[in-house]
Amino acid sequence: MTIGFFDSGIGGLTVLEESLRRLPAQDYVYMADTLHVPYGPKSQEEVKGYVLKAVETMMGEGIEALVVACNTATSIAVNELRELYPIPIVGMEPAVKPAVEMNRTTGKRVLVFATQLTLSMPKYYALVSRVDDEGIVDSLPLPELVRFCEELQFDRRVLGEFFKEKLSEYDLDRYGIVVLGCTHYPFYKNILREILPTHIQIVDGNAGTIRRLAALLTRYGVVSGRGSGDVKFMCTDGNPAYIDKMATALRFLREGGV
Ligand code: SIN
Repeated sequence: MTIGFFDSGIGGLTVLEESLRRLPAQDYVYMADTLHVPYGPKSQEEVKGYVLKAVETMMGEGIEALVVACNTATSIAVNELRELYPIPIVGMEPAVKPAVEMNRTTGKRVLVFATQLTLSMPKYYALVSRVDDEGIVDSLPLPELVRFCEELQFDRRVLGEFFKEKLSEYDLDRYGIVVLGCTHYPFYKNILREILPTHIQIVDGNAGTIRRLAALLTRYGVVSGRGSGDVKFMCTDGNPAYIDKMATALRFLREGGV
């Protein structure tokens, strides 16, 4: 079957990479909204319109399931997409619940990195209220990291200084887990591993999302498994250079990242 992956830019490739490992016998269409990336600083109404339009184009490609591989787009548009299209649709959720559970016995806090829009949405507030009964979750918007990622900025010195400044007000000894709540951020997992104290674990929602996708496909009875892991890259401005960039970035992730 053909599974669609949607993101504002290249972040969703970190989720697609997980899917290619777990569900290799499918085909994929990956769409980036290059006309409007980044979503984080935009309004809810704008982002909802962009997502609905891009997914309409993807439906024209014959996708039979959809992963909204973008935390911001999921917060804003996943419910409406499910009402519009009768196919399995999986979204992203910052991995706050597993992080709180993992940290329960350590007495440490959880720090969630995401876009300002994700962190301001009722969906995020409801998630934290539901799972954080001891008030151990703090949130830090990192919109710059989306820009860095889109520019393929992987200079360790630049990133080291960036994180040092962003984290300067946090006593990292008090934290046990950092949650990557934006699909762009796992591009920086290895670099973050070098920067953060070794006792801090880094978690993202990618594996959980692909587990949910696999379960949903089984439930719908739509896993044909006759694909070959082909990926068709698309972007809303049709820029061939960006298509090349996506293919390169996916290869880079499949080889283990920076
Ligand atoms: C962005 O476009 O600002 C990032 C979207 C996301 O993955 O949350």
